[in-house]
Amino acid sequence: MKRSLRSLSLPLLFLILLACLALRSAVTRCFNYQSNPEDRNIHIDATILSISSHDPADSSLQTDISDLLKASLESFDTIGGKYRTLSLWRRIGSDDSVRPRSLARIRLPIRAQAHYPPERQVLLPLFRHSLATWARYHHAQLPYSIMSELIQRIKRPIEIFNGRGDSSEPYGTCAVVGNSGILLGSNHGGLIDSHEFVIRLNNARVVGYERDVGSKTSLSFVNSNILHLCTRRVGCHCHPYGDNVPIAMYMCQPRHFLDYVVCNSSHKAPLLITDPRFDNLCAQITRYYSLKRFADLTGLSPTRWNETHDPTTFHYSSGFQAVMLAFGICKRVSVFGFGKIKGAKHHYFTNQKAELKLHDYEAEYMTYRDLIKHPEMIPFLSGFRVPPLVFYY
Ligand SMILES: *[C@@H]1O[C@H](CO)[C@@H](O)[C@H](O)[C@H]1NC(C)=O
Ligand SMILES: *[C@@H]1O[C@H](CO)[C@@H](O)[C@H](O)[C@H]1NC(C)=O
Repeated sequence: MKRSLRSLSLPLLFLILLACLALRSAVTRCFNYQSNPEDRNIHIDATILSISSHDPADSSLQTDISDLLKASLESFDTIGGKYRTLSLWRRIGSDDSVRPRSLARIRLPIRAQAHYPPERQVLLPLFRHSLATWARYHHAQLPYSIMSELIQRIKRPIEIFNGRGDSSEPYGTCAVVGNSGILLGSNHGGLIDSHEFVIRLNNARVVGYERDVGSKTSLSFVNSNILHLCTRRVGCHCHPYGDNVPIAMYMCQPRHFLDYVVCNSSHKAPLLITDPRFDNLCAQITRYYSLKRFADLTGLSPTRWNETHDPTTFHYSSGFQAVMLAFGICKRVSVFGFGKIKGAKHHYFTNQKAELKLHDYEAEYMTYRDLIKHPEMIPFLSGFRVPPLVFYY
C-alpha cells in the first residue's frame, strides 16, 4: 500500500514537470492549473474536436486498399534456394504493355516453409478476405462501446488459448512495459513479473535485461511493420517470443495483411489484429491532444497545426495504444519504461538515437496526465470508466 502511494505521487510530479517543460510559458500556467479549480472544468474546443475527428490519410488509404484487393499473387524462389518471395502486383491500366507494379512483397526463409501455407490459391483469398473485413470496420462509425469490447476481442482468445475459462472479468493487474532507456538500472524486473498480465512492445529484447525489465510476456503488442521485418528473419519469423506468446498488432499499412495471412497460419498462439475502430479512437485522442498542445503553446489557431505536423503521417505511438488496450482488459494498469530523461538511451536495447517525428510524445504525456487525474476531460471516451493507472520511473 505504502509503495503504491509513493509510486503514484512520484510519477505524477514527473508528469506535471514534463507538462510544464512542454508548455514554454510554463511555470505560472502550471501553478494556475493546480490552484484554480475553474481551469479543470471540461472545456472542449469545437474546432479542435472537429479536426481531430477527421482522418486526413483516409483517401490515400482507400486507394491503397482498392489496388491491393485487385492484385495478383506470385511466388518464386530466390537463386540459391534460401528464400521464397511472395509478391502482390497489379498491372495498372488495361494495356498489356504497361509494366506491372509491385504492391507488396515479402521474403520467407525456406527453412521455415513447413509452417507456411504453400499455395497462393489459399493465400490470396485469405488476404483479400481479411483486408476487406478490416477495411469495412475502418469505415464503421466509432461505437462508444469499443473499449468494452476489448475483453471479447483480445482477452477471450488469449484465455481460450491458455486453456483458462472464458471469463468476462478483466485481468487483476497488468504491466505495460515500454522500451525507454530509463529502464536500465531500474531493478523493476521482479515487480513487472509480479503482474498478472505483462504486455511488451515491438519485440523488445528481454534476454540479458531481466533484472530491469522482467522476463514474463503475456502479450506482445506490435505494429505491423515490426511483424513485416520479423517475417523474413529465420530466428524471428512470425514468432518473436516463441510459439506460445500471443501477439496483438495494429495495421499501419494495408499491404501488411500479406505478412498477417502468412504468419497467422503458422501461429499456435493467437495473432490478433486490433479493431480499426479502436485504432481510430486512439488516433482521434492523440490528434486531439496534439492540436490542443499546439494551440496552447503557440496561441495560434488549431487549423494551423498542419504547418508543423504532417497530418497524413501523424500517428500515435505503439505504447499509447498498448496502454489503451490495457484499460480495456485490466482492473489496474502499471506502466514501466515510458518517458525520457536526459542522458538515458532512447531504447534500452538498441542504439537508436532520435525518436520518430511522426509521434507527438509530449501530447501523449498530457493525455496520460488527464487519464490519471481527469479522465472525464478526454473526448471520445465518454462513458468508459478508466481504471487506475500508475507510472513507474
Ligand atoms: C487466423 O488463425 C486463426 C487460428 O488458426 C483462425 O481461426 C483464423 O480464421 C485465421 N484468420 C485468417 C484471416 O486466416
Ligand atoms: C491545414 O488545414 C487547413 C484546414 O484545417 C487547410 O485549410 C490548410 O490548407 C491546411 N494547410 C496545409 C499547409 O496543409
